[in-house]
Amino acid sequence: MPSYTVRTATTQYDAIVERNLLPRLAQFLPPRLSQIFVVTTRDVWTYHHALIETALAGRPWHVLFFPGGEDKKRLSEVEALAEQMMAHGADRASLVIGFGGGIVTDVAGFLAAIFLRGIPVLQIPTTLLGQVDAAVGGKTGVNLLAGKNLIGSFHQPLAVLIDPEVLRTLPEREYRAGLYEVLKCGVIRSQPLFDEMAFHAAEILALHPTRLESIICESVRIKCEVVTADEKEGDLRRILNFGHTIGHALEAETRYTRFLHGEAVAFGMNAATRLAHLTGHLPLAGCNTILNCIEQFGAIPSLDGISAENLLARLGSDKKTLHGKVHFVLPTHIGQVKITSGVDPELILQATRDALASQ
Ligand code: GLY
Repeated sequence: MPSYTVRTATTQYDAIVERNLLPRLAQFLPPRLSQIFVVTTRDVWTYHHALIETALAGRPWHVLFFPGGEDKKRLSEVEALAEQMMAHGADRASLVIGFGGGIVTDVAGFLAAIFLRGIPVLQIPTTLLGQVDAAVGGKTGVNLLAGKNLIGSFHQPLAVLIDPEVLRTLPEREYRAGLYEVLKCGVIRSQPLFDEMAFHAAEILALHPTRLESIICESVRIKCEVVTADEKEGDLRRILNFGHTIGHALEAETRYTRFLHGEAVAFGMNAATRLAHLTGHLPLAGCNTILNCIEQFGAIPSLDGISAENLLARLGSDKKTLHGKVHFVLPTHIGQVKITSGVDPELILQATRDALASQ
């Protein structure tokens, strides 16, 4: 049972990776709970409800449905979920379980963070992106029209239960979107993970069980290590935003409807890798190696109608902008990145144009 620990100033918890882990869910519940609220979507529930129903049999629990989709990740939905919890008599001894993809675990985590000023949450991610990134590390929140996750809070879970078996029902597009986040982990911090992605893409795309477990474990290990070093993203945690500066701009520009988050990150990594080369941080060979590896995991939806100028104009409203300065995470080698600001806007424009033209 590979298990990785996040340690922060106030808490410590494990992210556990194990096939067929979910039937053992009850072992991870704290004692003396009054009620359990499983926040999920109807799709996830259709596929996996039996696992939760069996694991929670005999306990007081309710399922709360979130409509799903980045455009529904709004404060009004959190309020609606909180009203339902109150209607069921929730109190401070209640537990929220986030059971779904990254959007669900972000919303469930935020609901738990603010309900009665904070109750515990246990995260059970059911998408690859949720398993390797979103559900680990305590970032929770919702979107504003101006940008992604602009309202939120750090609220660390009691545990993160990662069962690779649930990925078998994931639509192929969602799976590939998660693979881009795995690739991100390799580029920022692990040459072995990058190499595994680069040299075994066919097996990984076919959900080969051992490969899948291996890439999930290495990504989760990296995530736990980074969050332990820098819970609140004062410094090191910012490396997890590789591909997110332009990726978030792309999501906002298309009103969160055209691209899955991982797909937008794939485009953002393409642009940031080109920018790293244009700014002299990354030799051409390294740049091409990363771009080829991104490409191996398939195409993202059409970028028709999107201009580099419009994406650039959006960078200022990203929450990673500090004192008006846009920050980029740029690879310097595979497995190493540098965080930089004050990049010449002409080079950002060129890298973005080149990334658009390459799709
Ligand atoms: N997804 C980036 C982070 O958790 O910091």
